[in-house]
Amino acid sequence: MSEIWIQPTGGALGADVHGVDLSQPVSDTVFARIAEAWNEHLVLRFSGQRIDDHMLMKFSARFGDLDRVPIPTAGLDRSNSGVPKDAEEWVAVIASVKKDGKAVGGLGSYELVWHTDMSYNPLPPRASLLYALEVPPDGGNTGYLNMYSAYETLPDDLKRAIEGKSCIHDSSRNSAGELRKGFQTTHDVRTTPGAVHPLVRLHPVTGRKALFLGRRPGAYIHGLSVEDSEALLDALWAHATQDRFTWYQKWRIGDLVLWDNRCVMHRRDAFDESLRRLMHRTQIVGEPVLAG
Ligand code: OGA
Ligand code: MN
Repeated sequence: MSEIWIQPTGGALGADVHGVDLSQPVSDTVFARIAEAWNEHLVLRFSGQRIDDHMLMKFSARFGDLDRVPIPTAGLDRSNSGVPKDAEEWVAVIASVKKDGKAVGGLGSYELVWHTDMSYNPLPPRASLLYALEVPPDGGNTGYLNMYSAYETLPDDLKRAIEGKSCIHDSSRNSAGELRKGFQTTHDVRTTPGAVHPLVRLHPVTGRKALFLGRRPGAYIHGLSVEDSEALLDALWAHATQDRFTWYQKWRIGDLVLWDNRCVMHRRDAFDESLRRLMHRTQIVGEPVLAG
């Protein structure tokens, strides 16, 4: 039996977990090592895995209760996903792949802007786990952003400006900017639908403070004029999205990447739409968002 070892990426966040076969039960001792590494590195990659949806769900459930998949965009028919019926509610499909001319999953092949998964919910997921079944030879890399570092390095004036402030997280559009079923375009950010969360977030496990931005489109900081909110958000986003806080995952088939949605944002590069890319994702129910 091989032993678990953790290999940091050397970047702003992320580590590889070696010596764990996720098609087999994970012992409590090994899981404790994984949990510890996760708190330290925020994003973990398990490469060379061969798992089905039930194994993905089983491993995911070690991190907490599974959360339901997000509301699909118009035109997406979940019954076309290839996910077994009893897993459909829990496994989201991210795909450029089509079956009988219809998409089997969401988010296509275009760029996804920096975001936190489902932060527009009152209890945003704690974690997401994304498993690669098919990947293009090039493009479609996923970037991760260390929001502890983004907070800790904020200039004092920005830190002061966001103290005690909250922001609206837009629920009407997905991370590709597409309108979800049942939503209309909002023209005034003060009326954006979605949850309101503190801009500085206290991580319930590590006790560290992270900047919590969620997503830029539709965002609005409560208590400010729209103009002031836009200016402050622009300054925060310009600071947070610097390359020095990021690490990029270049996918290989069999990679499972787990990220901490409480202190990490992510984005995706576009890729050629004729290329096949197929991912299955679970998400873990989160706890109430604590103000930092
Ligand atoms: C997601 C997501 C990124 C990707 O699944 O939440 O943002 O690389 N996907 O497809
Ligand atoms: Mn996402």
